[in-house]
Amino acid sequence: MIIAIDGPAGAGKSTVARLLAQRLGFLYIDTGAMYRALTLKAIETNLNINDEKVIIEMACDTSIDLTNNSDGTIEVFLDGRNVSKEIREPKITKLVSDIAKIKGVRERMLEIQRRSGRQGDSVLEGRDIATVVFPDAEKKFYIDADFKERTKRRYLELRESEKQITTAMVAEDLRNRDFIDSSREFAPLKKAEDAVYIDTTDMSIEEVVEVLLKHIKN
Ligand code: DC
Repeated sequence: MIIAIDGPAGAGKSTVARLLAQRLGFLYIDTGAMYRALTLKAIETNLNINDEKVIIEMACDTSIDLTNNSDGTIEVFLDGRNVSKEIREPKITKLVSDIAKIKGVRERMLEIQRRSGRQGDSVLEGRDIATVVFPDAEKKFYIDADFKERTKRRYLELRESEKQITTAMVAEDLRNRDFIDSSREFAPLKKAEDAVYIDTTDMSIEEVVEVLLKHIKN
């Protein structure tokens, strides 16, 4: 079974998808981590991120693997190297949407994501899972929350590791990524017509997981 979860940054998708996969004994596939790994490689190899041809060539020449740990967390491997920590750094977050908007990059990620999802029962989480990657997924969810709440959640998540961060900086990043992710030409962020919309603004993570489980069991 494929469970597709889409939604904007900071809506709580990743935590919900991870917990849901753990509860169901499914694989958890974080597709944003794949775009982040590519962004890391582009930065490390000093590529011009505005040169689409070069970025697409890099994407086609890159291997990205995700592995699930028994505690529900994942490890991300870029050409065999564990980059799970580096891909969460602010310099990656800042550029990732610009890499993810490139058509040839998305085509390459589509191959990897479909192959990963077909390994077994999976929960895939991203921006275009229900619309493009697995339009025939058995269960589709669009997880959202209002902008203020998403900013607050992302700020609380980041402030431990990034002492300098402010809510204004987080808000700017979310606004920027929301705009690029939803207005891009290829596979923009949007709710699939047949996805269940869940506004998590006033819900706890556990409540969201319970709602999803109820839909899945129905
Ligand atoms: O979920 P995240 O914040 O780790 O995702 C990072 C970026 O990757 C996000 O801003 C847009 C892009 N992305 C995408 O375009 N399509 C996906 N399926 C997943 C992520």
